[in-house]
This record gives sequence, structure tokens and C-alpha cells, in this order.
Amino acid sequence: MSSLVLLTCGHSHKHRFINFLTTNLTSYSAKLSLNERSVLVFTLNPLTPSKLLSLNILLKSYLPIFSRYISSIFITSSRLSTYDVMINDASLIATNVTIKLSSTSSNLKTKLINDLPQEVKMTSKDNYTHSLTCIETSNEMYYYGLTVKSSMLIKNEDISFEPICRSYHKLSESLSSLNLKNLVALDVGSSPGGWTEYLLSQNVEKVISVDPGNMSEKLDEKRYTHLKMKFEESLPQIKSALGEDKIDILVCDANVNPHQTLVFLKTALQLLNEECIINLTLKLTNGKENLEEFKEEVRGLGFEDLEICWLFSNGRKERNLLIKR
Ligand SMILES: C[S@@+](CC[C@H](N)C(=O)[O-])C[C@H]1O[C@@H](n2cnc3c(N)ncnc32)[C@H](O)[C@@H]1O
Repeated sequence: MSSLVLLTCGHSHKHRFINFLTTNLTSYSAKLSLNERSVLVFTLNPLTPSKLLSLNILLKSYLPIFSRYISSIFITSSRLSTYDVMINDASLIATNVTIKLSSTSSNLKTKLINDLPQEVKMTSKDNYTHSLTCIETSNEMYYYGLTVKSSMLIKNEDISFEPICRSYHKLSESLSSLNLKNLVALDVGSSPGGWTEYLLSQNVEKVISVDPGNMSEKLDEKRYTHLKMKFEESLPQIKSALGEDKIDILVCDANVNPHQTLVFLKTALQLLNEECIINLTLKLTNGKENLEEFKEEVRGLGFEDLEICWLFSNGRKERNLLIKR
């Protein structure tokens, strides 16, 4: 019997999860897309504790990002049957244990509570020993299985942090593996301040934030300078705020089209350090922009190490360009 892990997510995140899972879970055979809202991962036969642990570690390392986009994670053995067979079988496998039900819908859960025999001990609290997972497929068949509680994937509990705005997550997702300590940053299109907040949290030396809009009062004003104007008009002020420094990190999330973003990059070239990190959100206007051509133009400016990707935290018509020089 093989086992499977099912992640459910919103429709617009489905392709990003599929991409992530097929790239990162190469030691698991992945069968994808059970229904419109889900991504499925079949593990290799059988799901050993060590395989589950390594899957757990991989997913947990991404959970700060994932926990905002995964609605649920289910693990089950891949028994597949009709509803009646599942009810009979589940009552056999769930003897002498206390189960918590996990299922893909609350309707199914209610139905199961009614239909499972009384001998099956169920709880909705934390004192369960096993999880009985039941997943309805599109053709009235059901995947189901019993998982020992201690081997279950754990969802990230620490989602209490509320950044100044959701944009914060884009930069934190893109730059999480880089050390930004003591670097000098320029944040273009910075209002209300999510990206500036992230840069400050990574102990950059200073941030120059350019935006005609207001910045949040939550930010520590000693370590950043707000130039309340459009980037196009701000070059003299940026130079004076920089003094002798050059920019080590250029980030731009301004609401402008990719062509304009490229113009911004060209303007900023003279301010950049020889070694630098550049992170730009590409706001696609019609979704049909030729990103390969765009990449070539950026390479033409002397940047070889660049990657365009669709972050979990990007909107539907956004892509992220990360350049390292
Ligand atoms: C999506 S918001 C940026 C959010 C920001 N990254 C954060 O984390 O708070 C886009 C911002 O781009 C700014 N913007 C648009 N055109 C600009 C320009 N030419 N120069 C500077 N900022 C610009 C807008 O004022 C707006 O505040």
C-alpha cells in the first residue's frame, strides 16, 4: 500500500505548488491534481517514518511561506473505495484508538460522524492518537487512511506576526536565504513600508525609501530616510542621502509596467555597488509580456545571474526578478 500527502490550496496557487513539489520532491513520485483545488503528492511505497520525516522537514522549512497559501495538509494511505466500503473498513482499522477526523469538506465530516459505528472513538480535541483522513475524489470514490498522530505533518503555528502590509512577504520569500546585514538599501515604491520593514528586520545599515505615498509610523525612523517623491525626480536626494556609500541592495515594487521598471534599473545603475542584490517585482499589464526578451535586456546591462520566478507571495499578474552581481 502506498501513502499520499495532499495539500489543498487556492486555485491560483496550484501551479506554483505543482512546480515547487516536482522540483523539490524528486525522491517522491508525485501524481498531481486530484481536483481543481488540490495538489496531490504520492509518496513512494511504503511511506516509511524516515521518508515522512524528511518530507516534514522540507515542508516545514517552507512553512512560514506555505502556511499562508496551504489551506490544509492531509496524509493518508492510498486506499481507494466507495463510501460504504470505506465506512466498513474504517471501523475495522480504527479499533482501540481515538481518532480525529480530517476530511476535505465539513459536509463529509458530518456524514462520517453520523455513519461511523459507535465503537469508533472520535474526538475533536487534542487527545486523539490517530487521524482518520478521508478525501472525496471527483467521481464519488474516497481515499482514506489512518495516521499515527506523532508522524503527522505539523502546520506552522507562528503566524501571529502582522507586517505593515502583505507585500512584506514577497521580499522575505525572495531574499530569505541571503545575508543582508550592514548593507545599504534603496527601496523604490516603498509605501506603506512592508519591504522597508523587512530590510530593517534583516539589520541592513540603512534604507532609503522612495515613494510619493506615506510610510507607516511603525518604522524606526533612525535607520531609514523617506524621500516623499517619485523615483524619477529623486536622484539628487538619493545621492545626498547616500553620501559616500553605494547601494548594495536595490528593491522595487513600484506600480509601474516592466518597461518602466527597466528604466528605473538603468537610472539606478550609477548608484550601485560592484557587488549587489537587485529584487524587482514585474507587474505584468496583460500577462502576455515576453519575459525572455526582458531577461535579455537585463543581461545586456551586464547582469548575468538573474532569475524570474512566480513567488507564492506574488499576485496573479506579478513575477519576481532577482539579480545577484
Ligand atoms: C504595491 S505598492 C508598494 C508596497 C511596498 N513594497 C510595501 O511593502 O509597502 C506600490 C507603490 O509604488 C508607488 N509608485 C508608483 N509609481 C512610482 C514612482 N514613479 N516612483 C516611486 N514610487 C512609485 C506607489 O505610490 C505605491 O505606494
